[in-house]
Amino acid sequence: MRERLEALKEEALAELSQVSDAGQLNDLRVKYLGKKGALTEILRGMGSLSAEERPVIGQVGNEVRGAIEAVITSKQEEFQRLETERRLAAEKVDVTLPGRPLKQGAVHPLNRVIQDMEDIFIGMGYQIAEGPEVETDYFNFEALNLPKNHPARDMQDSFYVTEDLLMRTHTSPVQARTMKSKEGEVPIKVICPGKVYRRDDDDATHSFQFHQIEGLVVGRHIRMSDLKGTLLQFVREMFGPQTQIRLRPSFFPFTEPSVEVDVTCMKCGGDGCRVCKNTGWLEILGGGMVHPRVLKMGGYDPEEYSGFAFGMGVERIAMLKYGVDDIRHFYYNDMRFLQQFARN
Ligand code: PHE
Repeated sequence: MRERLEALKEEALAELSQVSDAGQLNDLRVKYLGKKGALTEILRGMGSLSAEERPVIGQVGNEVRGAIEAVITSKQEEFQRLETERRLAAEKVDVTLPGRPLKQGAVHPLNRVIQDMEDIFIGMGYQIAEGPEVETDYFNFEALNLPKNHPARDMQDSFYVTEDLLMRTHTSPVQARTMKSKEGEVPIKVICPGKVYRRDDDDATHSFQFHQIEGLVVGRHIRMSDLKGTLLQFVREMFGPQTQIRLRPSFFPFTEPSVEVDVTCMKCGGDGCRVCKNTGWLEILGGGMVHPRVLKMGGYDPEEYSGFAFGMGVERIAMLKYGVDDIRHFYYNDMRFLQQFARN
């Protein structure tokens, strides 16, 4: 039996010296040392040995097992080391390579102009109010002194959703909503930025959807001069300290008196050029004193309270401020256009 054990050892070590991967190694472990392996097979014959021989052969069996196991363990370690080396080589990263720059987003120029305007008015103590883009006929027209069949409703061609719901044609309904929600409280000092919709054919200066910023102040003893001073302060911060304003009489159903407001042309400084059609002035907004009927419908007694309101187009102001000649540039989302407004 001793010879058989020695022969088994030689055979196993010879075979083990040939293995080249962990799978083969495991096969050999089963073959020689497994429960039904060759070693067990030989040792099963120990029963027929004499009491003296048995411990001697048992000893040899253990030595053979130990020798085979030792080789298997060292092979295993070697395979593991090779595998680690292979993975390290495969996953190697060159930390000295220059990084790939990530494209950075930026605030859209229209939002940037809105933010700038908000900052200016917040600095004057205003709060920001918002209202829905799908508006009721009541808030878009009725509460602004434009009763049904009022001829001034023709001034704005509207997108109707139902007979009573439409896409708001201006941000003025937020005035009416704000008065309603303040329930007679004063002062009201809000600006309302947002999208508005009109049935215009899109061209260089018109868009069926654009942005407005509305302003509303209601309190005691609010006068036309307050409107004028507020707007002068606004345009000086927006377009530069030398900017002047000019008020021209106008008409809106919700303000009385109403004005149209011009600013010094920022292209020529008032000398006259192509942009201002040689007048030196650019029209940028409409406004006036809140009509007594609008105050009343909003829950404010016109005998006790007064207010002013104004509204302006964000795109128009952005176009004038940045010399953009086509309103559609704001909506095409051409990166070459947008990137020029990125602030770092
Ligand atoms: N809502 C008017 C427009 O869209 C602007 C405006 C607002 C005029 C507030 C007067 C007061 O043209």
